[in-house]
Amino acid sequence: MLEQILNLPKVELHSHLEGTIKPHLVHQIAERNSVTLNESLFNNEGGYAWSNFASFLDAYDGASSCLKNKKDYRDIMYEYLKDCSYENVIYLETFISPDHAAECGISYDDMISGCVEGIDDAENDFGIIGRIIVTCVRHLGPKQGIDVAQQMVDNPHPYVVGFGMGGDELAFTLKDFAPAFNIASNANYPCTVHAGEICGPESVWDAINHLPISRIGHGVKSIEDAELLNALVKRNIHLEISPGSNLALSLYPNWSSHPLKLIMSKGVSISLNSDDPPFFNTSVGLEYQNSAKHFDFGIEELKSISLMAMKASFADPDTKSRLLDKISQF
Ligand code: ADE
Ligand code: ZN
Repeated sequence: MLEQILNLPKVELHSHLEGTIKPHLVHQIAERNSVTLNESLFNNEGGYAWSNFASFLDAYDGASSCLKNKKDYRDIMYEYLKDCSYENVIYLETFISPDHAAECGISYDDMISGCVEGIDDAENDFGIIGRIIVTCVRHLGPKQGIDVAQQMVDNPHPYVVGFGMGGDELAFTLKDFAPAFNIASNANYPCTVHAGEICGPESVWDAINHLPISRIGHGVKSIEDAELLNALVKRNIHLEISPGSNLALSLYPNWSSHPLKLIMSKGVSISLNSDDPPFFNTSVGLEYQNSAKHFDFGIEELKSISLMAMKASFADPDTKSRLLDKISQF
């Protein structure tokens, strides 16, 4: 079964590129850029040090601070795609934050062109297809969200396939970000937003009622509201679920209390994602392996998850149908 899960063609829809950088790569990039990293970023074992959601977001910012130029973005994109290809991920969408790049003195164009180079090199070397979802940061506020959406719309690239938002779910309201999301949506970019991770089901209602989104990052708290689960099915809203992240951030005490299986049984479209793999000691492959182990999923259920993910992806129609065939044939 382990081997079968490894070989299953997988799809990831939810990771944060700045949150995929392994500590050794942060050290390597910081050194070549002469950036002095804050020692408190790491624990005694060399992993990232954080203890709750707020300190996780700080550590995430700390890791991103090593980035200084286009090549750094090329390298982190390439390394993430390489790691994923070893687990037979065939397609992934990763969030990239222009606000983090700007904080490091990197322009939007350099950030995108570095990522594009990493995507092309990884596809040539490993066959994996990577795509970009440009994200704004919720706690930086709605005005900055508008700027990020406008920058994306004004500088189109075929690998930029959607718009999203992460950050502190307690900051502002989702309705405040409707103008930013409408800029993206009116320019035909499909959208996703983090909700129902830290806050309850009301945050998911806010997302589906006020924003033009077809997917929700996490959304696991939807399990607390049966009517909401029905609405997600009816409106065909997909949940990008990351059990390992949810457990690491103590949303649930253990795998047996995680609602993924129950949510799936209600007919909601879901995917399995790593979110910020080195921060949560996970990977896409591990999310599949752990789901098999703890939710008692067989290979057919895992295959159906991979198919749901591909269907909900923001890939162009040709890529989508080609990769759906590839998964179906497994
Ligand atoms: N940014 C990176 N990871 C995140 C998460 N799990 N929730 C919200 N914002 C994030
Ligand atoms: Zn996330």
